[in-house]
Amino acid sequence: MTNVAVVGAQWGDEGKGKIVDWLSERADVVVRFQGGHNAGHTLVIDGKVYKLSLLPSGIVRPGKQSAIGSGVVLDPWALLDEIERIAELGVEVGPDRLKIAETVPLILPVHRDLDRLREEAAGKAKIGTTGRGIGPAYEDKVGRRAIRLGDLADEQTLDDRIDRLLAHHDPLRKGLGEAPLDGAALKAELLEIAPRILPFAAPVWRELDQARRAGKRILFEGAQGALLDIDYGTYPFVTSSNTTAGQAASGSGMGPGSVGYVLGIVKAYTTRVGAGPFPTELDDAVGQRLGERGREFGTVTGRKRRCGWFDAALVRQTAAISGIKGVALTKLDVLDGFEELKICTGYRIDGREYDFLPAAAALQAKVEPIYETLPGWSESTEGARRWADLPAAAIKYVKRVEELIDTPVALLSTSPERDDTILVTDPFAD
Ligand code: GDP
Ligand code: IMO
Ligand code: MG
Repeated sequence: MTNVAVVGAQWGDEGKGKIVDWLSERADVVVRFQGGHNAGHTLVIDGKVYKLSLLPSGIVRPGKQSAIGSGVVLDPWALLDEIERIAELGVEVGPDRLKIAETVPLILPVHRDLDRLREEAAGKAKIGTTGRGIGPAYEDKVGRRAIRLGDLADEQTLDDRIDRLLAHHDPLRKGLGEAPLDGAALKAELLEIAPRILPFAAPVWRELDQARRAGKRILFEGAQGALLDIDYGTYPFVTSSNTTAGQAASGSGMGPGSVGYVLGIVKAYTTRVGAGPFPTELDDAVGQRLGERGREFGTVTGRKRRCGWFDAALVRQTAAISGIKGVALTKLDVLDGFEELKICTGYRIDGREYDFLPAAAALQAKVEPIYETLPGWSESTEGARRWADLPAAAIKYVKRVEELIDTPVALLSTSPERDDTILVTDPFAD
C-alpha cells in the first residue's frame, strides 16, 4: 500500500480533477501542494458538474479529509466563495474536513492588481496568466514579505507584515502609475475575514504525519502541468510554482519517501491555454475539431484552449522529470472519428534532430515536430468501461503512446463522468 501523487504531464487541464476524484475513493486524505485558484478541476458525477479551484478534488466524497499544504498560495476570499458555491451543490466544507497550512501565503488584492498591470504593460509579450495574482503572491513569499494565514491571528504581527509589504509595493506601484496601498483598509479587510478563515488553519504537516503513522492513504493533487513548471516548463510562459512531482512532498510538508507512486495525467492529444511555445499546435480544421469535441474552454477564465496532436517527446521528458511511474490517459473519446492520428516523436531544429525539447527560446521558436501517423477509428469509445470495449485501432494508439513515452498506462478515461474510467493498474496497490 502506498501514497499516490497525481501530476499534470502536459500544459495543465489534462483531467487531473476527474482522476483525483476517482482515485479518492481509495484514499483517506487528499492534499493540494502548489498553485492556487489558477487551477480549474472539473468533476462530473452522475451528470452533476463540480468546478473546483482551491478545494482538493476529494472534497465531494463524504468522510474524506482534505488539506491545503504550504506550497499553495491562498486567496481567502476566493476560498470562501468556493466553499459557498459547493455548499449549493450539497457539499458541506467545514474545518473538520478541510485543514489549511497556517504557513500558506495569502493572495491579496494587490497581487491581483499587479498581475493585471504587468500583463497589460507587456503587450504582445504577455504570458496570458489567469489574472489571479498567483505570480506576484509567490514573489512576495520568496521575497519574505508575504502575509501568511497564521499571521491573521495576531494584530501586531499583521501590522508588521503590512508595513513590510507596503515598503516593497508602494515604490513598485508608483512606477506603474498606481496610487499607494491603503494599509489601514487592507488591515480592516483582513481582520474582517480572519474569523471565517482561521478556523481552517492547522499544522498540516503534522496532520499528514499522523495520517501516515496511522497507515492512512494520502493522495497528493497537483495543479497545472509539468510544462508550466517554473524550472522545467517553457519559461517564461509558465506558472510561478513547481508543478512537478518533487513538489508534492515539500509543498505538503512530508518527506520524499512518502510520495510513493507518481501518476502522470496525460491527455490523448495536447492543449495549452495562454501564450508560449506549442510545437504540435494545429491552426487548422483538425485543431478546431479537437477543441470542439474536447470542449476545450478554460474552467477558470473561459478562454479557448489551443489544441494539437499528442506530443510523445514532451511527455517522455515530463515523465522523466516527475518520475512518473504510470499515466492516466484521458479524453481518448475525443479522438473518435478521425481518419488518421498523428503523434509527435521528436523535433527537427535547423536540420538537427532532437528527442527532447531544448530549453533555449531561440531553438524552441524554430522547432518542427517529427510525426508518425496512425490509423484512426470510426467506432465510439465514449463511456467505455472495459478494455475489451475499445476498437482495435484505439488500443493500438494507446499501446503506441505507452511505447513512445516509455511509461505504462495505469488508467484510461473515456468521458468526463467519474465512472467512465478503465483501471489497468491500481496506483495505490502498486
Ligand atoms: P484539470 O485541470 O487537469 O483537472 O482538467 P480540467 O478539469 O480543467 O479539464 C479537463 C476537462 O475534460 C474537464 O471538463 C473534464 O470534465 C473533461 N474530461 C476529463 N476526462 C475526460 C475524458 O476522458 N473524456 C472527455 N470527453 N472529457 C474528459
Ligand atoms: P489546471 O490545474 C492550464 C497557465 C495560464 C498561463 C500560465 C501562467 O486547471 O491544470 P498563472 O495565472 O498561473 O500565473 O498563469 O499558466 N495556467 C494554466 N493552464 N491549466 C491550469 O491549471 C493553469 N494554471 C495556470 O494560462 O499560461
Ligand atoms: Mg483545469
